[in-house]
Amino acid sequence: MREDYVHGYSEKEAIRLVDQAKTLAPLLHHDTSYPEGSMILEAGCGVGAQTLTLAKNSSKSEITSVDISEPSLNQATSLIKSEGIKNVKFQIADIMELPFEDETFDHVFICFVLEHLPDPVEALLSLKRVLKKGGSITVIEGDHGSCYFYPETEEAVKAWQCLIEVQKNLDCNPLMGRELYPLLAQAGFKKVQIDPRIVYVDSTKPELVDGFIKKTIIAMVEGVKEQAIGAGLIDLKTWEKGIKDLHKSAEPSGTFFYNFFKGIGIK
Ligand SMILES: C[S@@+](CC[C@H](N)C(=O)[O-])C[C@H]1O[C@@H](n2cnc3c(N)ncnc32)[C@H](O)[C@@H]1O
Repeated sequence: MREDYVHGYSEKEAIRLVDQAKTLAPLLHHDTSYPEGSMILEAGCGVGAQTLTLAKNSSKSEITSVDISEPSLNQATSLIKSEGIKNVKFQIADIMELPFEDETFDHVFICFVLEHLPDPVEALLSLKRVLKKGGSITVIEGDHGSCYFYPETEEAVKAWQCLIEVQKNLDCNPLMGRELYPLLAQAGFKKVQIDPRIVYVDSTKPELVDGFIKKTIIAMVEGVKEQAIGAGLIDLKTWEKGIKDLHKSAEPSGTFFYNFFKGIGIK
């Protein structure tokens, strides 16, 4: 497991991932559903936040969800059990060295993981190996360059920029969404289609103000506080003002915009 994995494996991050998945499920998953009897691989399932929706949307398929972190898999197992879901099994595995025969799965699903991997094309090739011919891969990623908000202050933009810089310093790619097409094409997937999924939030959408701006986005920025200050990217005073200002986008006169990307390719 990477010790420097940018979001970390804290309790707070586990809660953030579940909040994020719940809030974004209608936007990202309304069209993710697999036929009865399909064998599905979910790669990098984390604490099972997406697994929940996958399993509910495709209740008659068999899902194998893997992750490199055992504590995350334990949390995922409890979450799925608590919902009474029976069509998922969890397994510890590294995406780069998958313990499955060639062409085992009908479909592969991977969400918010490629951005953390040092060699995303190699990861896609590894996933392609275990996918059957004619099977599909679904990849979902954010792109932190696609974010803007109102009101916009210099400090809020600096705090946001810290998230991007901290991820870059850890060899992650905070601008992954815009690269999905070239990466999937480079890995040899066919019929690649990328669909931008826009989140626009204002106070007419209170569930997104709370679930997206506060619990997903600001929680994610707050998560890099120590790394950002420690690396000298920002001073404490600017950071605190930046976070306070970011919260203003969640007030009645604030607005927030972010773009996710959902890509599908066929082997
Ligand atoms: C941001 S989390 C996303 C989790 C989940 N897909 C979601 O959307 O909530 C990234 C996950 O990828 C996992 N991961 C990172 N590198 C991995 C690798 N090489 N093999 C398997 N899992 C990996 C991490 O352990 C972490 O659980």
